[in-house]
Amino acid sequence: MRPQAPWESVLLADPAHFDVTYVINPHMQGQVGNIDRPLARSQWRAIADTYRGLGYLVHVVAPVEGLPDLVFVANQSFPAKLPDGRWVVVRSNMRSPMRQPEVEILATWYESQRQAVTIGLGDDHAFEAKGDARWHPGRELIHCGFGYRTQRPALGVLSDLLQVPVVALELVDPNFDHLDTCLCPLDEVTALVVEEAFTEQGLALLRAAFPQAIRVPYDEAMNFAANGNCPDGRHFVVQQGNPVTVARVREAGFTLIELDTSEFMKSGGSVFCMTMMLP
Ligand code: ARG
Repeated sequence: MRPQAPWESVLLADPAHFDVTYVINPHMQGQVGNIDRPLARSQWRAIADTYRGLGYLVHVVAPVEGLPDLVFVANQSFPAKLPDGRWVVVRSNMRSPMRQPEVEILATWYESQRQAVTIGLGDDHAFEAKGDARWHPGRELIHCGFGYRTQRPALGVLSDLLQVPVVALELVDPNFDHLDTCLCPLDEVTALVVEEAFTEQGLALLRAAFPQAIRVPYDEAMNFAANGNCPDGRHFVVQQGNPVTVARVREAGFTLIELDTSEFMKSGGSVFCMTMMLP
């Protein structure tokens, strides 16, 4: 057993150049040029303060002009423990050419700031890291979405590389093109699930893996209710305005922290997308 948690710090990316300048998911439609940067900055600061309040050290990647999605720091890298106990960082292959330069920025950060080894999956198949690949809390298991961003063959490559079983979950609703918008593990038995985003087969796999699956209503999923982060198995940090989901999560015993990420939602991301937990 080589548990992937607990996480000790958080990596965020400075939103100075955050913007919507192209459209690569349905949420970005009609949002080009529509970002309130000062508001985005204050929403981002509230996320950073929340993690500090939970006791995490917050690291920040410097902004890069021309990379408006760099702020979605869940997508470029996938930290993992190898069978020999060493930590490595798997580099993404971003589906969109516009986002590909982000991967090198993150790799450089890990190598210079953490002396981490980064490894690639090869160039053949897209892989968007924690956007699509989520560790099962407390277990040696990865749930991986495929179809819109990550391509299915990448799952086998990832599994072979890390020597970890990967559960393959086909995504079928373009509004939820990353797994982290429709599956949110809270602890070893509990996860938020947006049922409409999966096939019947995928749902059966999820119900088997998480006996306490909490259904997220579709309208709240569109408000990024499933893109929260539960870094410690107790606190759930999530976009505000999702009363049904919040009530269900609270009833399951978690403490809610609700934030506003409205500017980032215009680009298709919220709390989880903007966070990278680090060992
Ligand atoms: N605009 C970004 C994209 O479409 C949003 C990324 C959201 N990130 C996530 N992990 N779901 O690539």
